[in-house]
Amino acid sequence: MSDSSDRLPRHVGIIMDGNGRWAMERGLRREHGHSKGADAVRRVVRASRRIGLDALTLFAFSSQNWDRPPREVFHLMHLLRRYLIEERAEILDNGIRLTTVGDIQRLPRMVLRPLTELMEASAHNREMVLCLALSYGGRETIASAARDVARAVARGDIDPESVDAELFGRFLPTSELLPPLDLLIRTSGERRISNFFLWEVAYAELHFSEALWPDFGEPELWNALNDYANRERRFGLTSAQIKAQLEERELPGRPALSGVVADPLVEPGH
Ligand code: IPE
Ligand code: IPE
Ligand code: MG
Repeated sequence: MSDSSDRLPRHVGIIMDGNGRWAMERGLRREHGHSKGADAVRRVVRASRRIGLDALTLFAFSSQNWDRPPREVFHLMHLLRRYLIEERAEILDNGIRLTTVGDIQRLPRMVLRPLTELMEASAHNREMVLCLALSYGGRETIASAARDVARAVARGDIDPESVDAELFGRFLPTSELLPPLDLLIRTSGERRISNFFLWEVAYAELHFSEALWPDFGEPELWNALNDYANRERRFGLTSAQIKAQLEERELPGRPALSGVVADPLVEPGH
């Protein structure tokens, strides 16, 4: 019997944590860890596209990370700019749509410019969504959606009695951009959400990896995907109900994990 848990997640989110510790363990500055972390981003985006995920969200910089030492913030911004410039061709050639969540207007112009340019250039790509959570906070995003709902109520466009989870969710940026979050990975052995997708995590499966982010690569990603494949997602129902539903209708769409054949990746310029 085929089972929904025998499938790939459509949308994976990753809290990329542990760059600083990776560097400190080696007697290096934290910035060095971030540079290595950028290499891990390249590897994981490439692997995700090859494996066939529909969407990958990377928590790259939180609303709270602005309060880190200015030198570290500056270095992270530079890495981000470099990533956007250096990966542009590969993102476009592989049909990846780049999008963001978070308050990107706070980003310096040197980042915002290549970011918005690549978002526009990749807007029609359909193979995978790569969403960067930048200057992002789950609470801040929910508060912003609540302001939008309040404005719509004040205008008389929405009846306050009609505000339920379904309607509210539509005011969040993720509702338009991304499929529901299936799997959340956090690296570095920490077991917390740190203000990431607070709303979206409601029924996501959680996977905690001991690897520090610069050491995370395709084997660690497969480990998380296999972990996901062995979970039974019940959404509040009983196991028997879920099994009956699955027998009734073969769930559409996703290939079985064991059946995934990696597509060759197009290198830029080919
Ligand atoms: C994650 O690594 C990168 C960002 C939060 C920007 P950290 O910099 O948090 O690394 P640790 O947690 O200090 O090891
Ligand atoms: C979460 O990691 C933010 C990102 C990965 C971008 P942090 O390192 O900022 O979170 P805490 O401080 O450990 O909770
Ligand atoms: Mg950290």
